[in-house]
Amino acid sequence: MPLDLVVGAQWGDEGKGRIIDLLAASADLVARWGGGDNAGHTVTVGQRVFRLHLVPSGILQPHTLCLLGAGMVIHPGRLVGELRQLESAGIDVSPNRLKLSTAAHIITPAHLALDAAQESSRGQAELGTTRRGTGPAYADKASRRGLRAGAMRQPEDFARKVTEAVTAAAPSLPAQAADQNLDPEAVGREYGEYAEVLRPFLADSGRLAAEALALGKVVLGEGAQGTLLDLDHGTYPFVTSSCTTTAGALAGLGVGPGHLRHVLGVAKVFQTRVGAGPFPTEIQGPTADRLRGTGDQPWDEFGTTTARPRRIGWLDAVLLRYAIRINGLTEIALTKLDILNGLDPLMMCTAYLGEGGASGDLDSGLDELEQVSPSYLSLAGWQADLRQARSWDDLPDAARDYVQEIERQIGLPVRLISVGPERKQIIARGDR
Ligand code: GDP
Ligand code: IMO
Ligand code: MG
Repeated sequence: MPLDLVVGAQWGDEGKGRIIDLLAASADLVARWGGGDNAGHTVTVGQRVFRLHLVPSGILQPHTLCLLGAGMVIHPGRLVGELRQLESAGIDVSPNRLKLSTAAHIITPAHLALDAAQESSRGQAELGTTRRGTGPAYADKASRRGLRAGAMRQPEDFARKVTEAVTAAAPSLPAQAADQNLDPEAVGREYGEYAEVLRPFLADSGRLAAEALALGKVVLGEGAQGTLLDLDHGTYPFVTSSCTTTAGALAGLGVGPGHLRHVLGVAKVFQTRVGAGPFPTEIQGPTADRLRGTGDQPWDEFGTTTARPRRIGWLDAVLLRYAIRINGLTEIALTKLDILNGLDPLMMCTAYLGEGGASGDLDSGLDELEQVSPSYLSLAGWQADLRQARSWDDLPDAARDYVQEIERQIGLPVRLISVGPERKQIIARGDR
């Protein structure tokens, strides 16, 4: 005991990485439970900026053990690349510190080619995936023909299995895939080399987590993506292919619910979405541009993985209440409060207007999101740079009112407020 989880409460990119980095200071084991390198977690430590895609953000605290859990899909080449990058930045990523679940699934170049081909064939209706092959890899997993990381224990066998998998995928791939380094033999050889590097990292992740919990250590589950991208409970089909919510954490790590202590939902004070799909509070124009940043400002909202400009909208308390319900959130971390400086008024969606009047709940689930029209509360803004604020008392009245209105709307305490990307730019409330 105990297990704490950090879950994205919106459409991903809420700032989970920077919150994990913070909480990892008092955790022993930090474990990603799902997704692949479609995730992009940016963590700023002093002058240094780390962009992590597979390795848990907890790796930046030197004492932690980090785990890539059974629910993940791994592109071995990208993992090796990320390890080298971290190593050259002076971060210890030796097998003593990092473990890879034998049950995680492997992404091959055939999955990448399939992801791209499926997106192209959708034409106007494309989902806007990150094209990292995660969807096709999870599809193979569900079809029970996936390749698991444990196979890397025998690199030669693994190379042969990869060659077979790429060969088997060939009929479903478009003709041009042959030009994209998709020679099955060459891919097999390349993957055999990755296996030589990654083999020492392999472990039984469920056992590791269980042993840590039994010893009374603090295990921190690191979410990727967000609640509204969950395969079951998100805005299907505009979702990712994994379980991004609390239930997915337990399955993806292989631990039982009895260990759960805090389930912290991370939410941005405005909202963003990358890719297609409904977004009731989406805005365009100067306010959206101002919130997104223009490319040379610190609050840039451009995808960490794909560099696409993120879609922008006002905070949606209806969807936040939904995230609380689906995940059993116990508390909230709010990020990017600093970014609202100078915007007045601030809008917050508190209900959706429908035929039967205003409703604060999703009466017929997320399927209604395309049609709903948000009802907004207008709140006073402030003119103050919050980036130096370190305590609740440092915040101007209007910023405190804004946070307290969120708490009123969602019925949960806001435990952490982040006022900048850097480790120190945080306000902790209560006992955390
Ligand atoms: P994640 O995928 O949930 O980890 O989030 P990302 O890292 O993709 O996106 C969050 C972005 O916001 C990153 O560039 C962070 O450095 C940045 N960020 C996080 N918290 C804050 C904050 O409180 N203020 C500002 N200005 N930037 C923040
Ligand atoms: P982090 O962990 C934001 C989105 C994609 C697309 C949809 C499906 O950084 O929060 P996929 O490649 O997963 O099949 O794409 O999901 N998406 C994310 N959006 N942050 C992420 O991860 C995302 N991972 C996937 O943009 O709309
Ligand atoms: Mg991200």
